[in-house]
Amino acid sequence: MKTINKLSSYKELSSTVADIVEEQITKHPLSKLVLPTGSTPLGMYEELVNKKLDWSTVITFNLDAYLMNITHPQSYQSYMKKNLFDRTNIYPNHSHFPFRPFSAFEDKIVGSMGIDLCILGIGTNGHIAFNEPGSSFDSRTRVVHLDEQTIKDNSRFFGSVDDVPTQAITMGLGTIMDSKKIVLMANGVNKLNILNVAMNGEVTEDVPASILQRHDNVEVFYCD
Ligand code: F6R
Repeated sequence: MKTINKLSSYKELSSTVADIVEEQITKHPLSKLVLPTGSTPLGMYEELVNKKLDWSTVITFNLDAYLMNITHPQSYQSYMKKNLFDRTNIYPNHSHFPFRPFSAFEDKIVGSMGIDLCILGIGTNGHIAFNEPGSSFDSRTRVVHLDEQTIKDNSRFFGSVDDVPTQAITMGLGTIMDSKKIVLMANGVNKLNILNVAMNGEVTEDVPASILQRHDNVEVFYCD
């Protein structure tokens, strides 16, 4: 089942998804979560930190990570430490970024009984995690080259386009689709068109997020 919800503000988007995460880890303290980075979830992380939840038994997997020095301020490892991990009681060895060998990373997810809740953002080209247009619907965790559009979009976090890493490790579309529940967040008018194409258009590898139409437990929240 897919539900699409328009919210009135970024604040409401952030608090709505934070409430879903809160409910998940309060009802199921052993939850396994998949978490995104980027600008969209920043407000949600702020809300979650302010809730002062018990993260001590929660296990997290990040969707993706640039291939770069993990101590760089723009690495996704630095982002997660700054916005969530260093501000909660999550155990450092309970939070995982995609690692090599990728089969071991995938096994870790399967071995932890699978993902209960996966939170996603969406790129302006329809990517989810760093599964760029053309990614196989069966794809698993792997190294990818970032799309020109993604590099351009993400240059706002770096000094210039030339400073944006060109490669990343990402969970695959198949990996994401194995999650029991998926929540997709989108913020801003620049995401409206691709969100509409992904949720109501043809299911095609040219629009990676369109695969979500085939998942039976997806909620989409957006604001413009
Ligand atoms: C990041 C990720 C990406 C972002 C997407 C949107 O971990 O998975 O797919 O969700 O690029 O990024 P923002 O939120 O910055 O527009």
